[in-house]
Amino acid sequence: MSAPEIKAPQTIFAQADDTAINTAARIIREGGLVAFPTETVYGLGADSFNEAALKNIYRAKNRPSDNPLILHIYEKAQAFSVCDGFPEAAERLTEAYWPGPLTVILKKKPGLPGFVSSGLNTISLRLPENTIARRLIKASGTPISAPSANSSGKPSPTRASHVLYDLGGKIDMILDGGACDYGLESTIVDFTGDVPCLLRPGSITREMITDVIGEIQLDSSVIGSAEPPRAPGMKYTHYSPLADVTVFMGEATAVADEITSRLRGARLGNPVYAGKKLGVMATEQTKERYAEFGADVLVLVVGDRNRPASVAANLFKILRNFDYYGVDVVFAEGFAEDGEGLAIMNRLKKAAGNNIVQCHHKD
Ligand code: TXA
Ligand code: MG
Repeated sequence: MSAPEIKAPQTIFAQADDTAINTAARIIREGGLVAFPTETVYGLGADSFNEAALKNIYRAKNRPSDNPLILHIYEKAQAFSVCDGFPEAAERLTEAYWPGPLTVILKKKPGLPGFVSSGLNTISLRLPENTIARRLIKASGTPISAPSANSSGKPSPTRASHVLYDLGGKIDMILDGGACDYGLESTIVDFTGDVPCLLRPGSITREMITDVIGEIQLDSSVIGSAEPPRAPGMKYTHYSPLADVTVFMGEATAVADEITSRLRGARLGNPVYAGKKLGVMATEQTKERYAEFGADVLVLVVGDRNRPASVAANLFKILRNFDYYGVDVVFAEGFAEDGEGLAIMNRLKKAAGNNIVQCHHKD
């Protein structure tokens, strides 16, 4: 069967049991598109060796065509069908963190068709930990190329319902496997240069990487410099909710003070906020600070400041919820940029279009 037309009006939405996974694998083999859970975010998968199916991924997501896809495998041995071997550091890092939320960029196996990696001579590979994802890849009998299963530019989906909202009617099937454990896209490390380089921070933190392979480079997009990023996807506007987001950085109480003072200004009639629905992305530690605004302000708790993993797991869901509730302006509390905080802030700053306010205690 050739790849289906994207206008297909029906998307099968199924709990990811054995029957559904087998159906999904058949759809992949026949050139269709299946959204499936991974431990990071939901992916939109197709057979890595079917050019027409890969094109349909770009159409369904409205994704720029120069942005290559990650190939997902179910066991390390499958990597050798697409890459030219693992350099020593890549070998050690994947031994430590595969299966898991880590993607490595390696030299592509000579002779593979160009479309497998958007014409690049490198390939990105991930061995996910999620068992639904691995059973699907195994049953499909091919590596599965999969970007995050959102419309391009929207926050990545961490629930099957997010995929349905963005891509319902545009893809063949959605496998529902519940909420994603980590909630941020995988850490990407490039091993094709002289020194390994972190292209996208994630739940495998910079510290966890240096523990295994020593110091690494940080790509321009990670440190916020003006150089073009090495992962083509990092240059695009991302994670942009419809709402206008501002991130407030600094010590948590200084942040809550600054947000509170802006909300009071809005209540007193600051014309900037006239007619706008306001929201706050708060934390367990700070939520009570906004109680005085009652129903005038939608306060959503993203997680616990002492457990960054809880913030990572909820971030994209909360950004989407502000949109679903029709909030126009979001004041988001920021986080320290270490450990998982580096990945959280990388996504949050993009959601805010770099609208960032530094907060200090007033004395
Ligand atoms: O957690 C994840 O990685 C999820 C799940 C579904 O596995 N996938 C994901 O894919 O986030 P996507 O397409 O949204 O992001 C892939 C990123 C893009 O920024 C892309 O430019 C970069 O990886 N990338 C892919 N192949 C590359 C290559 N050969 N060289 C440099 N960057 C590459
Ligand atoms: Mg994406």
